[in-house]
Amino acid sequence: MEYQELGNSGVTVSRITFGSWAAGGWMWGGTEQNDAVGAIHASYDLGVTSIDTAPIYGQGLSEEIVGEAIKTLPRDKVQILTKFGMRWDLAKGDFAMKSKDNNGHDLDVYKYAGRASIIKECEDSLRRLGTDYIDLYQQHWPDVTTPIDETMEAVSRLIEQGKVRAAGVSNYSVAQMQEAEKTLNIVSNQVPYSMVRRDIEADVVPHCIEHKKVVLVYSPLQLGLLTGKMKPGQHFDASDLRNGHRLFTPESITRVNATLNKIRPLAETKNATLGQLVLRWTLAQPGISGALVGARNPEQAVQNARAIDLNLTFEELDYINKQLVALQSAPA
Ligand SMILES: NC(=O)c1ccc[n+]([C@@H]2O[C@H](COP(=O)([O-])OP(=O)(O)OC[C@H]3O[C@@H](n4cnc5c(N)ncnc54)[C@H](OP(=O)(O)O)[C@@H]3O)[C@@H](O)[C@H]2O)c1
Repeated sequence: MEYQELGNSGVTVSRITFGSWAAGGWMWGGTEQNDAVGAIHASYDLGVTSIDTAPIYGQGLSEEIVGEAIKTLPRDKVQILTKFGMRWDLAKGDFAMKSKDNNGHDLDVYKYAGRASIIKECEDSLRRLGTDYIDLYQQHWPDVTTPIDETMEAVSRLIEQGKVRAAGVSNYSVAQMQEAEKTLNIVSNQVPYSMVRRDIEADVVPHCIEHKKVVLVYSPLQLGLLTGKMKPGQHFDASDLRNGHRLFTPESITRVNATLNKIRPLAETKNATLGQLVLRWTLAQPGISGALVGARNPEQAVQNARAIDLNLTFEELDYINKQLVALQSAPA
């Protein structure tokens, strides 16, 4: 495995980090808890020491699964990346994201990061995770109802108290990062990025390179689409976010697969899967420090972790980039 320090926080993460959103089941058509714990352990055995989670993933379930998984691992060898700022247990007016919980019940989710809320969320996360500190505490989404300095001051208190080692943000624009930096040293921004979703290359990435911030990218397999396993007309559970998703229409799957088929032979000559080639390409892009990859079971987790063993030459990366032009020119 390869590792990356988050600024000079002393927190070092594995460049492939286990993403435990699907482990919580919410928006992924449910979960199998034993598979999820097994997937985390299988990843750890291959050097994936960092685990990304959030309270909203399964409304506490993902954090509990991570807590269960790390019980048998040395705490100081594991990095827990969790988040705050998506509340499902508050009535906060008009800013709700409408969703369903794992049992199909209506769920209103609020992007809220007020001072008292963060302190409460942190205590809840520590309890669910069964630990007394969080390695990287990230604001999940910007909250337009709370001044950024109020949010960052609350995180500063948690750092002073030793409950948090390093502060990060997620889904932040450059302007929001600059605002947050006035109050607190932000070590990372967790943002979406994949072969079919590259908008951060225009702003967030150059900003982070210049200011030595870590970019942690999420959904690098584009929710499984870039493994090449999706077929046009693929069936997804009603509660799976890919059901009706614009990237999972038959047209989109056909178009993406056409590009994947061009790079598949390269994966095969390297004895790798398409997903591994995609992950290695992702980590080779300028300014991308780490990739958060979700896995449903140990088999997927092992395959994803082993992507790090794949070496791509400059010429091979160049060849892949040339094939990707077709994806950029068509609407995603
Ligand atoms: N900050 C944020 O707002 C935010 C948003 C999204 C994600 N994230 C983080 O980023 C992590 C990763 O993103 P993601 O889970 O959305 O997407 P992803 O990593 O692109 O895709 C994960 C999904 O792809 C499939 N998959 C994974 N490995 C595979 C393999 N080797 N072979 C075949 N299929 C495989 C699995 O689903 P199936 O088996 O069901 O196909 C898995 O759940 C999340 O878990 C979360 O920690 C953060």
